[in-house]
Amino acid sequence: MARILTGIQSTGTPHLGNLLGAIRPAIELAHQSENESFLFIADMHSLTQVKEGATLRENTYAVAAAWLAFGLDTERTVFYRQSDVAEVTELAWYLNCFFPYQRLTLAHSFKDKADRLEDVNGGLFSYPMLMAADILLYDADFVPVGKDQLQHLEMTRDVASRFNHKMGETFVVPKELVRDETQLIPGLDGEKMSKSKGNTLDIFADPSALKKRINKEIVTDATPLEEPKTPEGSVIYNLYKLVASNDDVARMAESLRAGGYGWGHAKKALLEAVVDGFASEREEFNRWMSDKGALDAELAKGAKRAQEVAQPVLNRVREKIGF
Ligand code: ADP
Ligand code: TRP
Repeated sequence: MARILTGIQSTGTPHLGNLLGAIRPAIELAHQSENESFLFIADMHSLTQVKEGATLRENTYAVAAAWLAFGLDTERTVFYRQSDVAEVTELAWYLNCFFPYQRLTLAHSFKDKADRLEDVNGGLFSYPMLMAADILLYDADFVPVGKDQLQHLEMTRDVASRFNHKMGETFVVPKELVRDETQLIPGLDGEKMSKSKGNTLDIFADPSALKKRINKEIVTDATPLEEPKTPEGSVIYNLYKLVASNDDVARMAESLRAGGYGWGHAKKALLEAVVDGFASEREEFNRWMSDKGALDAELAKGAKRAQEVAQPVLNRVREKIGF
């Protein structure tokens, strides 16, 4: 049985792009019975950027609530908060001591900001070693990641091999499972949907806020209501295809082509598809968010199981080091 492990950034409430690009595929993989799966929220990594405790906490809760609302089964997946298993920082230190400074200077996470060194803290610089510790602490066999994380995973494999070579066989050297990125979800402006671009379709937002955003942010051409319109290439139609049934999509395409159906109608249909289509998940999300105690209990259950796996690995490492 293979152990699959991955970390989720805790940057805020997940949007449609996160759901379709990351959450759904990861839950599917996690629920395949032949795998043992570990999934954690990387709040210690977030600390390299976010310094407000309340924001850090809320982001973690929002991410946890989203995954649970979309059906993550915490009996089958060890689901935990990175900072609840603080052993990972001890391992990160050891790994730092076995990895060349020069190689760390090549990490994208650091290099992207290296032209503004005043914004770089030591944590951001050694980010890849905390990520390596996340993985090696649990003897993970496979790590599902997007392409942007491949370099970090290569560093993980590298530091594991260096340690094994110097100190004797200690770590499982993990393999990457590159996440298929064929489905790039467009945002309300047609560009890649991303929190940093402010173009997200927020599946958990309340319907009136969502309505405002859809009406304001999606720009449409001025074709008069009566005239026929081309569905293909329009942001509304492209988003609708992601959230509505095939029949409804075909109906919208037909109405647009026929004329007498305006972009306002299409926006209304999109809003309804999101509001109705994710109604039960939104309810679940809100239920979790209004009961942080229950969220903490779920995450604590995961942390306990994670710790049981982490402790023996850490002991193995300490022994090899000579402590
Ligand atoms: P954001 O860009 O909103 O900050 P993140 O970088 O936190 O999103 O992404 C978290 C996960 O969601 C990643 O696995 C990423 O590949 C996926 N993801 C984010 N935006 C999209 C998108 N527009 N289409 C597909 N997947 C996405
Ligand atoms: N750095 C990853 C990202 O930005 C998140 C992450 C942290 C992670 N630790 C990990 C991913 C361990 C996989 C395994 O998406």
